[in-house]
Amino acid sequence: MKNNSTEIQVEQLGLSQYDDYSCWLQYTKITNQKWIENNQSLLSQIEVLTSSLVVESAMQEILTAINGMVEITPSVSTEPKNQSAIVLTTAADPLVSDYVDLQVFESINNEGYIITSVAVEGYRKLLLVGKTDKGILYAAFHLLRLIKMEEDIKQLHIVESPTNQLRMLNEWDNMDGSIERGYAGNSLYFEDNRFTENFERIKDYARLLSSIGINGISINNVNVHEVETDLITEKFLPDVARVADIFRAYGIKTFLSANYASSIQLGGLDTADPLDEGVQQFWIKKVKEVYSYIPDFGGFVIKADSEHRPGPFTYNRNHADGANMLARALEPFGGIVFWRCFVYNCLQDWRDRSTDRARAAYDHFKPLDGQFMDNVVLQIKNGPMDFQVREPVSPLFGAMPNTNQVLEFQVAQEYTGQQRHLCYLIPQWKEVLDFDTYAKGEGSTVKRIVNGELYSNKLSGITAVTNTGNDRNWTGHTLAQANFYGYGRLIWNPDLTAEEITEEWIKITFGNDPEVFETVSSMLLNSWEIYENYTAPLGVGWMVNIHHHYGPSVDGYEYSVWGTYHFADWKGIGVNRTVKDGTGYTGQYFKEVSDMYESLDTCPDELVLFFHHVPYTHKLKSGVSVIQHIYNTHFEGVEQADQLVENWKQLEGKIDSARFEGVLSRLQEQADHSREWRDQINTYFYRKSGIADELGREIY
Ligand code: GCU
Repeated sequence: MKNNSTEIQVEQLGLSQYDDYSCWLQYTKITNQKWIENNQSLLSQIEVLTSSLVVESAMQEILTAINGMVEITPSVSTEPKNQSAIVLTTAADPLVSDYVDLQVFESINNEGYIITSVAVEGYRKLLLVGKTDKGILYAAFHLLRLIKMEEDIKQLHIVESPTNQLRMLNEWDNMDGSIERGYAGNSLYFEDNRFTENFERIKDYARLLSSIGINGISINNVNVHEVETDLITEKFLPDVARVADIFRAYGIKTFLSANYASSIQLGGLDTADPLDEGVQQFWIKKVKEVYSYIPDFGGFVIKADSEHRPGPFTYNRNHADGANMLARALEPFGGIVFWRCFVYNCLQDWRDRSTDRARAAYDHFKPLDGQFMDNVVLQIKNGPMDFQVREPVSPLFGAMPNTNQVLEFQVAQEYTGQQRHLCYLIPQWKEVLDFDTYAKGEGSTVKRIVNGELYSNKLSGITAVTNTGNDRNWTGHTLAQANFYGYGRLIWNPDLTAEEITEEWIKITFGNDPEVFETVSSMLLNSWEIYENYTAPLGVGWMVNIHHHYGPSVDGYEYSVWGTYHFADWKGIGVNRTVKDGTGYTGQYFKEVSDMYESLDTCPDELVLFFHHVPYTHKLKSGVSVIQHIYNTHFEGVEQADQLVENWKQLEGKIDSARFEGVLSRLQEQADHSREWRDQINTYFYRKSGIADELGREIY
């Protein structure tokens, strides 16, 4: 496929050393001689003035990276030398106060750091000062990012500190090796109902995670089946401890999803009633045992009374009873419980239009505000339904001032193209984080609630379902690595713009070619809209094939038990969630937001079918009717998907062939598949409504 001249060019650019496996940690040789001349003097010496496991990881990473990027092996000393150097130390180091205003450390949290250039007796030193050792690790990755982007590192003065305290990932891995909603191969941890032997790969995973600031991970699926229930027993705890050892060296705490009913399966009891003395004792002993293997174990993630998982409802207890029972057992060890709010009736009757799944989390949890222990965190999906391409923000954010909350995103693209389609989610997540709930008046954005600021919560942060697996490139679609990277960067600092995150990712992943940057950046930043254009319209969601959720099926979920309906008939479509004459869901928001969604006049177009049932002829604020909007966006979406292929093709020779070809084939699949979406959706609504496309395009 390639001619010789392209091969030569690739060789000259050093592209052949790029490897999808390394994601954004591509330590390939820097060919910019000017940059090397200007900055090299700092790179031949590293002074490591403090020691810990995490600092050792930081040092190793710097050595590997400098070796790869500048082809020198720095010497390492544990004391200051009369030589230019990169210096790793903490705020506690007495030498630091000579060069850094210690007050700066008061304004940053324990994981924060300073990177600063100073002159010491005529030598240039680049200080990487963590408030604690973890800050050094994060500072190291920050510096390496700057080097890879060929930024001048001689005069740096950077102060950084993560906005969110809990920066988590949830793996949905099963012990048979499969991953629930996994689109990038099998589990990194498990195969054939045991742990894998590939711990080297877990270490590389830990490097990727800590490079974007992740500090907690739960390694198994929230749906805890029989085999996985044993993860908290002597059968598997030694292996969990091995995994935890790897993550610990990168500043990451290990958590497990636990089976709420373990007291039955493991404890031989006939109940999991949280108020039962025997059940409480079971968990106290069990937690003690877990900590005997993993002294800094993070705690449990719990999916209870949700999609057939057991929970306290069976015993007429509420979710505070259930969560607190576990929290009490974990408290002496500093462990926490992530208790998921994804609780709804999954056995609904589609004929019943009054039950509204969107209401469920708020209805179940809001009345319990203030009843959860301090080491319980409620884990709330970003929207009230389930990670659709477009949903409003969950009304639970801000509604429970006396309860710890974390936000849950899904990096895995379950409903957004399954990592076979390009759908860059950072712009979506930014909208969620910037959304104003009005919980405490104007400016009560979701990001200020989940970072604990608005209500001074003890625990707070953000978590997400991972999009990784054991595919060589971790995420299946190379460009899906941007969602993984962007998630970490965004939750570290939700004020970063999507454009800033995108630029970083492209440059450190593909190098600094301006054309690559321009092209990939516009592809990524437009991809969410493109995906939305050819899939479910105007916030109504679903319309996917049942169970696996890939590909169009307008009525796939329409007559099912899952509570996910669009109610299209010959006259109109959408779910009436108003207080006036609908399900009353809009009333769960604070007044300003509630009023906005309640009225058709103020409800934003992109969510109109989420909140209202309207005739196909209803005119949107854009000026077009709902039916014409459906036709227009679906035709446009296919054209845009075709254009993605064309844009990418322009980069041939500028990106190594493995990644180039891999992405190209996915984009081609996406373009083909978008036609299926377009034709099914357009045809369905044409047949339902009998209204023709104003532009007379082909509908079947
Ligand atoms: C979605 C997903 C399930 C998952 C669930 C959850 O419904 O399709 O596979 O178990 O979310 O978040 O628990």
